[in-house]
Amino acid sequence: MAVFNLFSPLVPNQIYHGDARQLLRRIGQDSIALSVWSPPYYVGKDYEQYLSFEDWKDLLRNVIKLHVPVIKPGGFLVINIADILCFKDESMPKIMAENVSRRKFNLARDDLLAMKKQHPTWNRYRLAEHFGCSEQTIDRRLNGNNIRGGKYQPQTRVYLVGGLIEEAAADAGLYLYDRRIWVKDATWENSRWHTISYRSVDESEYLYVFWKPGITKVDRARLTKQEWINWGSRGVWEIPSVRSNVDHDSKFPLELPRRAIKLFTDPGDIVLDCFMGSGTTAVAALAEGRRYLGIDKEKRSVELGREAVRSFERYRACQESDQLDLMLRELEVTYKPS
Ligand SMILES: C[S@@+](CC[C@H](N)C(=O)[O-])C[C@H]1O[C@@H](n2cnc3c(N)ncnc32)[C@H](O)[C@@H]1O
Repeated sequence: MAVFNLFSPLVPNQIYHGDARQLLRRIGQDSIALSVWSPPYYVGKDYEQYLSFEDWKDLLRNVIKLHVPVIKPGGFLVINIADILCFKDESMPKIMAENVSRRKFNLARDDLLAMKKQHPTWNRYRLAEHFGCSEQTIDRRLNGNNIRGGKYQPQTRVYLVGGLIEEAAADAGLYLYDRRIWVKDATWENSRWHTISYRSVDESEYLYVFWKPGITKVDRARLTKQEWINWGSRGVWEIPSVRSNVDHDSKFPLELPRRAIKLFTDPGDIVLDCFMGSGTTAVAALAEGRRYLGIDKEKRSVELGREAVRSFERYRACQESDQLDLMLRELEVTYKPS
């Protein structure tokens, strides 16, 4: 394996171990046709434990800014990210919901208040005796402290991430050129969210497309007519989530970077992913005849990414090219670290 000098420029078709904020500085000026990545989402994953909320926002701002010198004039930065649906907000009032459907004892607050009006001297023990429930139930109904997530947990709300990204890019000199919505599998299993509130289940993410001023080649021949109809011109991309997350728990599906690569680059171009994770973007770039450049701060991810590239090369060497689609799908589903 090649040994890299601490300050030598990064070369294509490699995945580097390190922090994006350091390594992006070592990429050649105007060398990247497309950068496509999915950063930490600030949702409590292991690989983002080193970040406070402020650190996370700084990370995104810095990484976006560091793209400006390296993207070719007329090139693109595509960021895949989701809003934070369970953003803990200490300032939110704690008393939020009276979840009647989950009550063990079905006593309405209005009945209780009516009884109290009739018997103003009754305390909660007497009321409990009358209704045949515990005095805690009376207390909860009367004082409304039926708090989601417990009395001392902060409440959660939705945090929209798009504004932060758009502002960081605009400050850096990149323009929001387009945005698409990725509709993925609904994550029913992971979330108590929708059963204890009126909130919807998590089933979409965003793709924000930023443009670096310069001449952009618009080449409709990059996609077939059918691809233009199916997804090239569509604002909503329906792509199933990755089936198996055993090796890396935040993989995006191969089809996602693959579409961006087909739309925004030519064969031979360099595609950057500075949050490379399990190597999905590298494999997508190779599958489309482009070069890749990867960065990840977790050693394990770097090893996974390099192994994904090796697996892909092995598949490609021994299979017929018309079976490539099938192989890629298989790679995505079945690839496991050795
Ligand atoms: C959402 S995951 C990317 C998953 C990837 N798209 C895939 O398909 O496997 C984010 C990745 O960013 C990496 N990461 C977090 N902070 C980083 C930093 N400061 N510099 C580089 N990589 C970082 C994590 O280790 C993680 O692998």
